[in-house]
Amino acid sequence: MNEAAIFAEDVKKYYTVKVGFRKKAEIKAVDGISLIVREGESHCIVGESGSGKTTVSKLVLGLEPPTSGTLKFFGEDLKEILVDKNKLRAFRKSVQAVFQDPYSSLNPRKTIKEILEKPFKVHQIDYNSSIIESLLQDVGMVPPQAFLDRYVHQISGGQRQRVCIARALALKPKIVTLDEPTAALDVTIKAQILNLLIDLKSKYNLTYVIISHELPLLKGIADKITVMYAGKVIEQGPAKNIFSKPHHPYTIGLLESIPPPDPKTAKEKPLPVMEGEPPSPVNPPPGCRFHTRCPFATDVCRKEEPKLSEVEKEHFTACFHLRNVVQ
Ligand SMILES: Nc1ncnc2c1ncn2[C@@H]1O[C@H](COP(=O)(O)OP(=O)(O)O)[C@@H](O)[C@H]1O
Ligand SMILES: [Mg+2]
Repeated sequence: MNEAAIFAEDVKKYYTVKVGFRKKAEIKAVDGISLIVREGESHCIVGESGSGKTTVSKLVLGLEPPTSGTLKFFGEDLKEILVDKNKLRAFRKSVQAVFQDPYSSLNPRKTIKEILEKPFKVHQIDYNSSIIESLLQDVGMVPPQAFLDRYVHQISGGQRQRVCIARALALKPKIVTLDEPTAALDVTIKAQILNLLIDLKSKYNLTYVIISHELPLLKGIADKITVMYAGKVIEQGPAKNIFSKPHHPYTIGLLESIPPPDPKTAKEKPLPVMEGEPPSPVNPPPGCRFHTRCPFATDVCRKEEPKLSEVEKEHFTACFHLRNVVQ
């Protein structure tokens, strides 16, 4: 089998922060996650705010080294990439990012043409106007000539995100990370951007890492899903399994946290699992980190940490009470 595009094994990212005079605390932003993203896959990482998703994207982009654990890209260890100038240059070109807020990630003083030229200039790669125009064409900004000389404030929010996507694609990357790519957009525009991402993935042979807190939104685009809670993976598997038969109470809660469009199809009594707040990443509770909010929690959940176990082929869940949760 080919090497995975991304291979992460027991990756941790701890931040040390000052808390008062001479006192320090350790924030366990990512606390031992493992995942494999195959080439051409769209791997979605979901969880509430503070669960460690953005930290995972920073690790995948090589912007932050892991505190411990192994992170490999197409078989090559990130540690080796980071210390070799040529490897790092190739890595930066082949792993690109799209962020949540297209407004703050685009320079307001540059035209769209200048924004799209920049990656070529930074990497000293030849380009011409037809390359820039075809990038705009590919992200649905037609006719491209109508947009080249415009500034960011002269286009809509959806178009701004299209420009961010075009910029990420400029150097023909292999992997694109998208951190909450639709969170700042209206509902109808969200769907358009997700459809665009689906089209571009096959056209450009991309591998996606998509980060979102809105699990139901990812139904059409996700191949694999990793659900994170307080820095840990609590469920992971093929998207179709996670949507049709989620096992972890937290995943079930995430799927039910957005009301269905038709109240008649709403379940009579949704699980009351999404009340309360995620725990502090400085002092996570012992045992299962979700036990403080879980309606199924018993003594074992308060004492022991559940390990991920395979519940179906390639579908893993960390919970002591699966038989009670999944009927
Ligand atoms: N550079 C940093 N220094 C200190 N703490 C951080 C840093 N980056 C993230 N954190 C903390 O790590 C936790 C996870 O953050 P993040 O990865 O941004 O979560 P998410 O994207 O899921 O909202 C949060 O508690 C956050 O405050
Ligand atoms: Mg985030």
